[in-house]
Amino acid sequence: MWRALVFSLLTVLSICLADDCEEWQHGASFLQSGQYLQSHSSASGLKRGFLGNPHEWWVPAACVLAPFMCLEPFDCLNNTGQLKSRQENEAQMAGPNGVNVASWCYSDPSYYNTAVLQCLVKKDLLAYAQTMFEYSVARHPLDETDATYCAYMGFCHNDQVTLNTTLDEAQVMCDELFPVPNGWRSAGAPPLPGKEFTAADAKNYAMAACAMGNYQCDVIYCRETYCKKEQYQHIFEEVASK
Ligand SMILES: *[C@@H]1O[C@H](CO)[C@@H](O)[C@H](O)[C@H]1NC(C)=O
Ligand SMILES: *[C@@H]1O[C@H](CO)[C@@H](O)[C@H](O)[C@H]1NC(C)=O
Repeated sequence: MWRALVFSLLTVLSICLADDCEEWQHGASFLQSGQYLQSHSSASGLKRGFLGNPHEWWVPAACVLAPFMCLEPFDCLNNTGQLKSRQENEAQMAGPNGVNVASWCYSDPSYYNTAVLQCLVKKDLLAYAQTMFEYSVARHPLDETDATYCAYMGFCHNDQVTLNTTLDEAQVMCDELFPVPNGWRSAGAPPLPGKEFTAADAKNYAMAACAMGNYQCDVIYCRETYCKKEQYQHIFEEVASK
């Protein structure tokens, strides 16, 4: 469910700036980078973006916060001309060849030096598990929602993924789990969950993980944290009884 924030926060990005919302306080240095870029840029597009389309300013600012986001394979500044628009990305997360890590360009910046860095840059699945566990506990009840995601997806019992599972191997697993047609390769951004995080939500988020390249990391995240911790067992029992 932590991915839910990805999309909801994007739509309120400019509002967050005005309202000084929590995510932005959290990312204070990022905000300063944005303001720095804005005041030091002659590109009026950056100023317009500040009030309107966030894409125009926050992606350049992200290069300061997390320089790898502006290099390949993310290329959030679209230097290679391959970056899909936010609308295109929401309509279909995967790219023509499968995983589309550039989807992260449209995610909340709080994921850059956490999820993206550990899973896709360092490819350290264990560090991802620990980092995202801390991330979600700090945003409680996000941790409980993530545990629910783990439960519905049966990730505690998934021994196909190892600490060495690569992005390419994960795509094969994703194809088995969510095959063509109507599988992860054509899935759009997950709709925001309602009050209760359902099996359908879990499937949508897992498909998004496949498309964004963090499926294998999510399996390890579940297995190494929620699955092992006593305080989340009631969630697994609840889901199992449904
Ligand atoms: C990326 O660049 C290509 C080629 O210039 C352009 O068609 C596309 O719209 C750009 N994407 C974004 C998100 O600006
Ligand atoms: C991962 O690869 C390393 C080095 O190749 C190996 O030592 C280790 O046993 C592997 N771990 C798993 C879980 O496959």
